[in-house]
Amino acid sequence: MPFKALWVTETADGKFERNIVERVIDDLPSGEVVIRVLYSSLNYKDALSATGNKGITRKYPHTPGIDAAGIVEISRNEQFATGDEVIITGHDLGMNTAGGYGEFVRVPAAWVVRKPEGYTLRECMILGTAGITAALGLHKMELLGLTPSQGPIVVTGSTGGVGSIAVSLLAKAGYEVIAVTGKSHAHEYLAHLGAHKIESREFVNDTSGKALLRPQWAGAIDTVGGNTLLTLLKGCKPEGSVVSTGLVSSPKLDATVYPFILNGISLLGVGSAETPITTRLLVWDKLKDVWNIKDKLNAVVKEVTLDELNLTYIDSILQGKIMGRIVVKIADK
Ligand SMILES: NC(=O)c1ccc[n+]([C@@H]2O[C@H](COP(=O)([O-])OP(=O)(O)OC[C@H]3O[C@@H](n4cnc5c(N)ncnc54)[C@H](OP(=O)(O)O)[C@@H]3O)[C@@H](O)[C@H]2O)c1
Repeated sequence: MPFKALWVTETADGKFERNIVERVIDDLPSGEVVIRVLYSSLNYKDALSATGNKGITRKYPHTPGIDAAGIVEISRNEQFATGDEVIITGHDLGMNTAGGYGEFVRVPAAWVVRKPEGYTLRECMILGTAGITAALGLHKMELLGLTPSQGPIVVTGSTGGVGSIAVSLLAKAGYEVIAVTGKSHAHEYLAHLGAHKIESREFVNDTSGKALLRPQWAGAIDTVGGNTLLTLLKGCKPEGSVVSTGLVSSPKLDATVYPFILNGISLLGVGSAETPITTRLLVWDKLKDVWNIKDKLNAVVKEVTLDELNLTYIDSILQGKIMGRIVVKIADK
């Protein structure tokens, strides 16, 4: 059966082109479950894959899309039946396995999660990998004993996908949130999501060369990396924790050990693609309950078509211009 998909190809001179083409299910990688995709989303990693980043996608041609939500079309696994509503976030989807920017995906059953109760497929994609990443960050900090009474939590890249969900989740969980942004026009947006204070990127870009700074925050969820992540470590209160999720500024961390050995700071990593299914389910349970931010999802989402994604939004996210989450409508029910 032919279906529409975004198709990224490498030209003979090493450039990359994107087109929307017709593909057939038989060409998809092997797997036990074929899913008719209704929604996907745009993550920074998708844009890297769609523009030829071989650290993400080794081989082209390729269909990106690390998130997908839809309906089981064919299942050779007893856990899933035709008609089930399901989601996939991460694993290898959209990296080296044809992803959610196509009307069908075929994947191993172990990647498939039954749609969490209380959320629509579209809402699951508003959260998507970005939401799971933010939630995993908070989950890890709380496993170390973090509570709202310990002080404010900084979120960097706060108007982005991970950042917007992190601000909303932390506020919902009762934390004082300091949202760091490069967008001076985004204050109303961030305040609506629950940020208590809004700071410019300079707030977490220390250039003093000092090994430690005045302790100001109990923790942080960082999407930026580089000197921002270093500043977050240096200015964290004793026994606090800093979660590294991203690298939009830099993948480097030129740190000393002083924050760790003098202040007992923990540097926590989130790798959502590799997170075991049991932890994902645990985090979805919290998203349904104590971290339920359904009332904020309309504020963070913009829905686009596959054409609009291709022509505009893939480039916009690489330029740091996106606010919130982009949901891609792939097909009607
Ligand atoms: N570890 C994981 O499992 C995982 C999962 C998802 C994403 N990520 C990573 O997390 C990062 C964010 O992903 P995303 O999907 O949220 O991307 P996004 O929507 O583009 O958000 C990134 C935000 O970072 C800020 N920013 C952009 N360029 C910057 C720069 N040069 N310096 C400082 N801030 C900058 C911007 O926010 P402001 O204008 O508000 O500052 C931008 O909106 C990416 O590196 C992505 O690869 C990791």
